[in-house]
Amino acid sequence: MSNSNENKKHIAVFPFPFSSHLLPLLTLTINLAHESPNSHFSFISTQKTNQTLFSKTNIPKNIKHYNVSDGIPKGDELLPGSEVTFYLQTGPENFQNGIDLAVAESKKPITCIIADAFVTPTFDVAKTLNVPWIPVWIPMSCSLSVHFHGDIIRAHCSVNDVNRTLDFLPGLSVLRVEDLPHDILMTGTEKENVLTRALDSLSKILPEAKTVVVSFFEELDLPLFVEDIRTKLKSMLYVPLFNLKPKTTPQNEIDESGCISFLEVQKAKSLQVVYVSFGTTVVEPPEHEIVALAEALEEYGFPFIWSLKENLRNLLPNGFVERTSTRGKVLGWVPQSRILGHGSIGAFVSQGGCNSMLEGISNGVPMIFRPYFADQGINARLAVDVWEVGVIIEGRVFSKNGLLKSLDLILVQQEGKRFRENALKMKKILEEANGPKGRATHDFKKLVELVSSS
Ligand SMILES: *[C@@H]1O[C@H](CO)[C@@H](O)[C@H](O)[C@H]1NC(C)=O
Ligand SMILES: *[C@@H]1O[C@H](CO)[C@@H](O)[C@H](O)[C@H]1NC(C)=O
Ligand SMILES: *[C@@H]1O[C@H](CO)[C@@H](O)[C@H](O)[C@H]1NC(C)=O
Repeated sequence: MSNSNENKKHIAVFPFPFSSHLLPLLTLTINLAHESPNSHFSFISTQKTNQTLFSKTNIPKNIKHYNVSDGIPKGDELLPGSEVTFYLQTGPENFQNGIDLAVAESKKPITCIIADAFVTPTFDVAKTLNVPWIPVWIPMSCSLSVHFHGDIIRAHCSVNDVNRTLDFLPGLSVLRVEDLPHDILMTGTEKENVLTRALDSLSKILPEAKTVVVSFFEELDLPLFVEDIRTKLKSMLYVPLFNLKPKTTPQNEIDESGCISFLEVQKAKSLQVVYVSFGTTVVEPPEHEIVALAEALEEYGFPFIWSLKENLRNLLPNGFVERTSTRGKVLGWVPQSRILGHGSIGAFVSQGGCNSMLEGISNGVPMIFRPYFADQGINARLAVDVWEVGVIIEGRVFSKNGLLKSLDLILVQQEGKRFRENALKMKKILEEANGPKGRATHDFKKLVELVSSS
């Protein structure tokens, strides 16, 4: 094989430029670009992506950004969530335009398309160009099964059947209707939208993909689900796109938020600090839940760190911050992995995004979940009923009493010890999965081979 041949590889990458999807795909692209230095990568997304993330990240020279239209009509007021609709509605033509820009500038034809699986119109583009299509599934792996079996789920279950278990799905009997992403039951109703239709089409198009990349660890996955989904796809590769390794922290790294020195002071009450964070999510808890959380934290009396966006802080009860200031901190951005890895956190209150959940587990911290949307319900269910590392808050909504009960269970009762032991077991499994012998290392190499030979 000659080098000049290798030089010709040109991979177009299409992220889903919303919420927690964008960064994982950029991370994947950067990792691939390092491993495949002779390939050329075109990261095709909206201009906003370039402004907010791309041009602020250290990007290898063999990745270039090209922008496509975000589809937002000029002058219209944007309803929450409508950006997604506008973007997907731009359709294959828009994504083809991005490719045309990339090809015109690089003078290299596209040899492969990697796309966030949510950007389904890129499947048509790949078909037209007759190049391999490699979708990347960012949410929890087993939620793929839920999208493959949407029809069966809708035939068996209604929204009100909250406790109905999904025992008719291979390997997923632990899941319940209340855990499902809401869009599953919306498809075919008047609440259906472009995204729900896109996700519903996955059962038809994913089997045609060269391979499907899932951002998770096979070592943690549900064996029967894995067996079943593998029969449906040509190939599936586990390439986790989470940043779970805490950055090695030099002794003198500045502690801008003051969190770490705060935790040092709390050390005497080791394993009793409560850490609350809703991550970088787009869905914000309503006022009554913020108030309930604050009241529970105030009444409970244990130390806490609460990462809360500036715009939500005015919802806190009057004087809350002052009254709890000797044992609590309410902050904006905090160094989450350093906090969870500090060794004094006794409970992590979270929405259950995949990244946060794994960050909790990989630090051996028991968790309290309040799932809001997307795969959060599924993540929480796995953590609670399969790995047994925490609880879902009573009623799945923050209430003062519900939270007090959960905190008591984890920080005071024996239950907490059991959760912590399980989390520490999971931590070990994760460490091995992340290591040189893990499936992830093997599968990433396979992906590199695929894109540099396709
Ligand atoms: C992306 O941002 C960089 C730096 O701001 C700029 O030079 C470049 O032209 C932008 N590219 C696109 C396609 O918007
Ligand atoms: C893409 O980025 C360039 C800057 O590099 C800008 O001039 C152009 O208007 C952008 N196009 C779209 C469709 O946003
Ligand atoms: C679902 O189960 C929970 C606890 O097992 C129970 O409290 C609740 O009433 C049930 N909901 C319905 C609608 O059956």
